[in-house]
Amino acid sequence: MSAFKFNLNQKEVEVDVADDTPLLWVLRDNLGMTGTKFGCGKALCGACTVHLDGEPVRSCTLPISAIGQKKITTIEGIAEGGLHPVQQSWIQEDVPQCGYCQSGQIMSAVALLNKNNNPTDDDIDQAMEGNICRCGTYVRIRRAIKRAAKGGTHEG
Ligand code: FES
Ligand code: FES
Repeated sequence: MSAFKFNLNQKEVEVDVADDTPLLWVLRDNLGMTGTKFGCGKALCGACTVHLDGEPVRSCTLPISAIGQKKITTIEGIAEGGLHPVQQSWIQEDVPQCGYCQSGQIMSAVALLNKNNNPTDDDIDQAMEGNICRCGTYVRIRRAIKRAAKGGTHEG
């Protein structure tokens, strides 16, 4: 066990865990932040997506010892001042079905829109391809991303 300090959603946190503990376990089990989901545990589904210095990463395979000074943002961190515009578009497009994959989907969508505020269908497909939805909400996800990109306006 070692003590790790890192920046989580703009706050310093400290945990005492083994070096190879995946960030996902730290978030959910040590810090009680359950917005980030466990799906496959093998970097295959995207349910556990968080941001590492703004880049979407799979927290199920990111060891706590690899974070260092980088900043982690979770689904809880994007909504601290009220719902994020992407979350609002998600609601307006009624995206979720079972909901399990959705925090990971939203984190990937936010990372995409932070870099590209007018994504094409190809840009969206590329950015979102690692996020699997067993309920097949992909069409609504694309519509919600386009709505958010247009500042909440419906795409038609
Ligand atoms: S739980 Fe991490 S990618 Fe599936
Ligand atoms: S909404 Fe059910 S897995 Fe995506």
